[in-house]
Amino acid sequence: NQIKIFCPATVANLSCGFDVLGLCLEGIGDEMIIRKSDEKGIRITKITGADLPLETNKNVAGVAGLAMLNHLDLEFGFEIEIHKKIKAGSGIGSSAASAAGVVVGINELLGNPLHRKDLIPFAMEGEFLASGSYHADNVAPAILGRFTLVRGYDPLEVIKINSPNDLYVTIIHPHIEVKTSEARKVLPKEIPLKTAITQWGNLGGFISGLYTENYALMGRCLQDVVAEPYRKNLIPEFDNVKKVALENGALGCGISGSGPSIYALSKGIQTAENVGDKIKEVYSKTGIEYAIYVSKVC
Ligand code: HSE
Repeated sequence: NQIKIFCPATVANLSCGFDVLGLCLEGIGDEMIIRKSDEKGIRITKITGADLPLETNKNVAGVAGLAMLNHLDLEFGFEIEIHKKIKAGSGIGSSAASAAGVVVGINELLGNPLHRKDLIPFAMEGEFLASGSYHADNVAPAILGRFTLVRGYDPLEVIKINSPNDLYVTIIHPHIEVKTSEARKVLPKEIPLKTAITQWGNLGGFISGLYTENYALMGRCLQDVVAEPYRKNLIPEFDNVKKVALENGALGCGISGSGPSIYALSKGIQTAENVGDKIKEVYSKTGIEYAIYVSKVC
């Protein structure tokens, strides 16, 4: 009647796929313990590692869990302990980890009555609470793993994308907070046709690169002409980090989700670790505190 689950961090957007593309990271994430209880609804009994509300309706995991319970119409409820390791506002899907973790955990406890893909809309309710927008590009990879593409939002259709086994991500997380809602406000409401053509060409090319294991193609496609030009100003040393990552063999580098974390995608762990070392050199000069992670796409 109890389950302990790992709630993975994720990288959304991946430069060419604003609001539609994401990937799941191995080993970086939160933990959650979920228990069945006689009382209906969701009760959050403990949160460690972050200063987040215990009230169900104000908590991302609470809201996502409740959305699922309302759908299932159960005679009992759940108690949740959340142990946060991913910092809020880091750009590696902190809210998504909680929203995805709770629905996956409840589903497991119940013997998996719902397909994984059917859990995504409930988790999106949690994302809405956190950011004010219904995006699935973090919760989808957190729930399904690997790379995912949100093919459409209305109706929701998520596709899990085949990918080679040797892709690694280097993340640098500067310890400043960029709220997703703020990072969305700096974006223009409309984009020129030429910009759209560049972006959708790159997105299609990147997906093709993943399926055909064409690393050079993946690299050419990891560009963002939609969000990065506006958002990079919120991230100190962004251009330098990107330059150093690309010079040291990363396939691509860009803003992770809405920032401030920066991701670099590499073939092989050695390149990913080397990219991490070189980025460290850039950031240690700034005096800004940061953390670096290297993780497999999983
Ligand atoms: N796609 C979203 C954005 C992800 O970039 O605003 C936020 O985590």
